[in-house]
Amino acid sequence: MTDESYRRLLFEVSTDDYESDLQSWLDFANQVRYFQGSSNDVASLKRLDDYIRADTHGEAKDDRIYYLALSPTLYEGTVNALGDAGMLDETNGVRRLVVEKPFGTDLDSARLLNEAIHARANEHQLFRIDHYLGKDTVQNLIVFRFGNTIFEPLWNRNYIDHVQISVLEDLDVADRAAYYEHSGVLRDMFQSHILQLLALVAMEPPATNHANSLRDEKAKVLSAVRRPNRQQAAANSIRGQYNGYRDHDGVSQASAISTYGALRLFVDNWRWQGVPFYMRSGKALKSKFTEIAIQFRQPPHRIFDVEDASGLVPNMLRIVIQPDEAIRLTIDNKRPGPELRAQAQELEYRFPVGMRDAYERLLLDAVGGDASLFTRADEIELSWAVIDPYVEAWETELASQLYPYARGSWGPIAAAQFIGPGRYWSNPA
Ligand code: BG6
Repeated sequence: MTDESYRRLLFEVSTDDYESDLQSWLDFANQVRYFQGSSNDVASLKRLDDYIRADTHGEAKDDRIYYLALSPTLYEGTVNALGDAGMLDETNGVRRLVVEKPFGTDLDSARLLNEAIHARANEHQLFRIDHYLGKDTVQNLIVFRFGNTIFEPLWNRNYIDHVQISVLEDLDVADRAAYYEHSGVLRDMFQSHILQLLALVAMEPPATNHANSLRDEKAKVLSAVRRPNRQQAAANSIRGQYNGYRDHDGVSQASAISTYGALRLFVDNWRWQGVPFYMRSGKALKSKFTEIAIQFRQPPHRIFDVEDASGLVPNMLRIVIQPDEAIRLTIDNKRPGPELRAQAQELEYRFPVGMRDAYERLLLDAVGGDASLFTRADEIELSWAVIDPYVEAWETELASQLYPYARGSWGPIAAAQFIGPGRYWSNPA
């Protein structure tokens, strides 16, 4: 490609409306150059280095961010080549590496990748992306929990019956089947996004909201998640596959890859002892829906008789991450009228429409050098350590059956039994 044809391609795929503001597009596009080479080849990268130097007119200081959105098999070779080409040396300006997921495929590979990268760059240069952390509603978890006084005293085993984390998608794997066949829902969604949500919901209050303070608390809670053996992992999970998955190009007719999963995890610390965390995720479901639901306990004593109390439900706090971003709290009230009857109602806050794209925020933070919303080496490894036993159980005969489910449903019927009895998944109305 030439600079021009590459810019045209960018214009075509951009989702922003630049037609009406062509000048700002041109201001941006004129800064974009196309350069061809192999990312893991030192000679290519040296040419790139010369090219950048020529472009910056040899300015004494040039700050750089290398954004690695590559096949995971290329990460190590690319970082080595960048190192060998002298392009990670920070003498003349910052050198940062933004690394896309997936970061490894299990604990061992993530550890090796961290070691390989650390041999060439320092942790402060690394920005491992989990785009869920760039979502405003996810960042709001910190403000909601620690900016209010009324929730934190209740945020523990004394008042909470269980926690649900749902990351449901209506899209199927579409043209990503080749990738998905090697990942499945556990590696694709649980190890990264879902465990980050769990960490933010379950962590202790950090002393400040600076990068390491926050990440220390997330790492602590991830290290407290109970590590099951394979048998226990099999007993605390169910998995499913949507009908028609095997018809995608690149998927074998015998594929045992799970496109749906539900897990029951426990956090073995003072705050959460005995409180189950139910987490589920799947593709080709009824609608896109990401929510954290906190189910509070029943009041300790009922003063109403059965008929009066028939409308009473335990309080539930629903934090809808996307779409229709909102926070809802179910409370019980008297139904107006002569009789003493209860009914459940909802207090609701809706986030303003038109939320920013998560990547906008994350890339700006990488430019500014703020790593708070990026995952640190230890968090990545701890997350794999949590997920690996489930992957291993699911890849062996220990796992429960792979339940089929219909496209456009809420997943396998067995998922309802898995969370029950007496507990129900929170689905959108
Ligand atoms: C990605 C997964 O990390 O997140 C995809 O690889 C998934 O499979 C996507 O579809 C979901 O992101 P979002 O922001 O649309 O919820």
